[in-house]
Amino acid sequence: MSQPPTSQATSTPLSSAESKPHVVLGVAAGIAAYKSCELLRRFTESGHDVTVVPTAAALEFVGTATWSALSGKPVSTDVWSDVHQVRHVRIGQTADLVVVAPATADLLAKAAHGLADDLLTNTLLTARCPVVFAPAMHTEMWEHPATVANVATLRARGALVVEPAEGRLTGADSGKGRLPEPEEIFELCRDVLVRGVSAPDLAGRHVVVSAGGTREYLDPVRFLGNRSSGLQGYALARVAAARGAEVTLIAANVALPDPAGVKVVSVETTEELRDAVMAAAASADAVVMAAAPADFRPLAVSEAKIKRATDGTAPDIALTQNPDILKSLAADRAHPGQVVVGFAAETGDATGSVLELGRAKLARKGCDLLVVNDVSGGAVFGEPDNQAVILDTDGGAVEVPRGSKSAVAQVIWDQVATRLE
Ligand code: CTP
Repeated sequence: MSQPPTSQATSTPLSSAESKPHVVLGVAAGIAAYKSCELLRRFTESGHDVTVVPTAAALEFVGTATWSALSGKPVSTDVWSDVHQVRHVRIGQTADLVVVAPATADLLAKAAHGLADDLLTNTLLTARCPVVFAPAMHTEMWEHPATVANVATLRARGALVVEPAEGRLTGADSGKGRLPEPEEIFELCRDVLVRGVSAPDLAGRHVVVSAGGTREYLDPVRFLGNRSSGLQGYALARVAAARGAEVTLIAANVALPDPAGVKVVSVETTEELRDAVMAAAASADAVVMAAAPADFRPLAVSEAKIKRATDGTAPDIALTQNPDILKSLAADRAHPGQVVVGFAAETGDATGSVLELGRAKLARKGCDLLVVNDVSGGAVFGEPDNQAVILDTDGGAVEVPRGSKSAVAQVIWDQVATRLE
């Protein structure tokens, strides 16, 4: 991993892998424990040194052999193994990050009250690094006043308690309480390792983010599309939720797991995107247009599949212009203080450099901030990292150095938060 850890620990690491960020993966007794095997893999394969600390009951779901084989380390649940190493203190002291996934209602209660009757709860008491809890439980348990109070206590103490996802739970029921996808938890943790747990500076704010690329259909099977993966928009949504915002994510054809605690609205075409963004923007404090809407669509959509001509001629497809969503948003704001942010993927040409074209676009669109990416040679699309310059209407330019798309998202929200104040 390229980013340095933000450890506050001072003791010597337990493992020989001293240069690697040291992550403690706590696993409580939930059926979602199996998903944490994937989370563990993501950590180890990206150069993290991981110590897995399950609770004894968690081993009912995934056994010691699996955790030990995947982490390459011995695994124990109690404070009585290897007592000479004082593991119940040292594991927490030497961690750069502790993430508990899944975190059950019982584990959250113990953590909130400072109970320490096994290795994981001892570790939570001795850790001075950032702590992330990814809860998973039945909706009734998540909504119980005891759990609500425990989550509030943990958040007030500076822990990041991720909102559970909605969907199918154990058995036939569904609702809020699913463990977010491992990929999502991993991205959150990567960000926390770099920045620590963000202050909830967007709490009480509603933000709207668009992501992905729209499709404009020619017939029932063919469409005009573009290369946007949705990664930057999803990172923006994830980070805003982690900073306390209520987030509506309008996703155009994105094949990524829903970010934790985010309301996702799926659309396909630019007109659908416009309708969904405008509806959500009515109550939004900020709107970030990270999506790549198609500028044109076929004038007519053929109801039947367009056939290949026998004489070798290609069909003429007449196009018509799509609405400019960003321009309408900026011109017709739901309320005066609403912050509107656009993106510009530029390549620079004979008419100007990437930044000159960005400045002209900022003026043309009428938004408050424009995040300019240099996409010469196809850089950025589908890549985990990004690099940008954020232009504002006062002539300012904030350089965002190359980093993960979550890191870029943090800087964008910093800029938005300043304007919301
Ligand atoms: N955008 C939009 N509606 C469109 C096209 C773009 O809201 N129909 C938004 C994008 O989400 C992005 C910003 O406008 O935030 C700039 O997108 P870009 O494609 O660079 O803008 P265009 O106006 O299409 O400019 P160009 O002619 O350079 O493609």
